[in-house]
Amino acid sequence: MALNSAEGKATLSFSDGTPALELPIYKGTIGPDVIDIRQLYAKTGKFTYDPGFLSTASCNSTITYIDGDKGELLYRGYPIEQLATKCDYLEVCHLLLFGDLPNEKQRAEFVSRVTKHTMVNEQMQFFLRGFRRDAHPMAVLTGLVGALSAFYPDSINLHDPWQREVSAIRLIAKLPTLVAMAYKYSIGQPYMYPRNDLSYAANFMRMMFATPCEDYKPNEVLVRALDRIFTLHADHEQNASTSTVRLCASSGTNPFAAIAAGVACLWGPAHGGANEACLNMLYDIQKQGGVAKIGEFIAQVKDKNSNVKLMGFGHRVYKNYDPRAKLMRETCHEVLGELGLGDDPLFKLAMALERIALEDEYFVSRKLYPNVDYYSGIVQKAIGIPVPLFTAIFALARTVGWIAQLNEMIADPEYKIGRPRQLYVGSVKRDVKPIKER
Ligand code: SDX
Repeated sequence: MALNSAEGKATLSFSDGTPALELPIYKGTIGPDVIDIRQLYAKTGKFTYDPGFLSTASCNSTITYIDGDKGELLYRGYPIEQLATKCDYLEVCHLLLFGDLPNEKQRAEFVSRVTKHTMVNEQMQFFLRGFRRDAHPMAVLTGLVGALSAFYPDSINLHDPWQREVSAIRLIAKLPTLVAMAYKYSIGQPYMYPRNDLSYAANFMRMMFATPCEDYKPNEVLVRALDRIFTLHADHEQNASTSTVRLCASSGTNPFAAIAAGVACLWGPAHGGANEACLNMLYDIQKQGGVAKIGEFIAQVKDKNSNVKLMGFGHRVYKNYDPRAKLMRETCHEVLGELGLGDDPLFKLAMALERIALEDEYFVSRKLYPNVDYYSGIVQKAIGIPVPLFTAIFALARTVGWIAQLNEMIADPEYKIGRPRQLYVGSVKRDVKPIKER
C-alpha cells in the first residue's frame, strides 16, 4: 500500500566526494522505521549491500507483525496466543486474506466455499504415478501445486482480483487433499476423497488415515491440535518462502506457480525443513543414549567444525522465545496426554535438551531459543504423521499466508517486478584467446 508522508530524514554523506544525500524516513504503525533508499542509485550511482537481508525491508505490509525481542507475533493485530486458542484455522485464513476475523455469516460462507473446492481434478492422480513411491513428499507437492495451474485457466490472471480470490480458495482447499494424496501414494493405499460434512482439519485427518475398508472417526483432540498447528504456521512476515512467493509473483506469473516456488523454498532445513531435521536429530540422540548423551551433542553443536546445529533452535527475527514454540509445547502436552504418551521418551528428551540449551552460555549469548519447528515434529509424530510429511504440513498451513502476501503485493499500485542488483567482484572485461593460447 502507498506509504504516508515521510516522518523524518536520514542524511548520507560520502568520503569520496559524492554529494550528501537526504533520504526520507517512514514510520510503521509499530516496529522499526525504514529509510527509503529507492533514489540512492539514481542519485549516487551506489547500491546498498545486505546479503541475507538482515537490515532490509522489502515491502510495507499490513498482514503480520513480529517483535523478535519481545517474542510477539500478531496476525492483522491479533496476538497468536489468542488466535490459536479462540479461533480455528479457517477463521484465521479469512483474517489473513480479507483483513479481519469473520462474523458468523461470513464464516459460514467462507467455510462453505473452501469445503466445496477440496476435490482435485481426477487427472491429478496421474502426476503421482510419475514419482517413485519413496519420493520425498515435498518433491511431489512442489510438482502437484505447480501442476494446478494447468487445470484452472479461469483463475490464473494475477491482475484480476476475482481470479486471485478464486485461486486462493482453491489452493487453501486443495492443499490438504494433495498432501494426503502424496502420503497415500507413498504407502500404496487408495486415495480418500474429501468429505463435505467434516471440518478442515478433520477432513485432512480422514484423507490421511482412513481407508475404504471401514469407517473412520477422527479423534477430536487430535483434530483440534492439528487445526492449531495450521494456525501457528499460517503466516510469518517476510520469511524466505514468503519472499520467494512475492518475488516469483512479481513477474506476473500465476498464483499456483508462485505458491509452488514457496513450497520449494520452504523445503530447506534452515527453514520449513527444520521440523523434519529436528525430529531426526532427537532420534539420533535417543539412539546414542538419550538424555545422558545431551552433553556430548551440545559439545558437537559448539564445535564449528562439526557443522552440527541444534535444529528447531534459533531464528533470524526472534531473539527471545518464539511464541509459537510455547503454544506448540502446550499442544504437545495435550496430544501426548490424550494418547497416554505423557512419558513419551522423545518429548522428555526434547524438554531436557531445551532446558540444558537454555542454560548454556553458547545459546544464551547468541539468543538462540526454540522456534516453531522444535516441538511441532513431536506433536505431528504423536498424531501419526510420518516424519517426511512434516514440512508438507507446514506448506499446507503456510499457503494462506503466501497467498495473502502475494495479493497484498499485486494490489499495491507501487509494486514493481523484483530485481535486486549486486556488488560485482569478478573479472574485468577481457578478450577470448584461441584455445591454443589459453
Ligand atoms: C523457520 O524466517 C522465518 O520467519 C522462518 C519461520 C517461518 O515461520 O517462516 O519462522 C520458520 O524457518 C524457523 C527456523 C527453522 N530453522 C531451524 O531451526 C534450523 C536451525 N536454525 C539455524 O539454522 C538458524 O538459527 C536460522 C537459519 C534459523 C537463523 O540463522 P541466522 O539468523 O542467519 O543466524 P546465524 O546463522 O547468523 O546464527 C548466529 C549464530 C551463529 O554462531 P556464530 O557464527 O555467531 O558463532 O548462532 C549460531 C550460528 O552458528 N546458530 C546456531 C543455531 N542457529 C544459529 N548454532 C547452533 N544451532 C542452531 N540452531
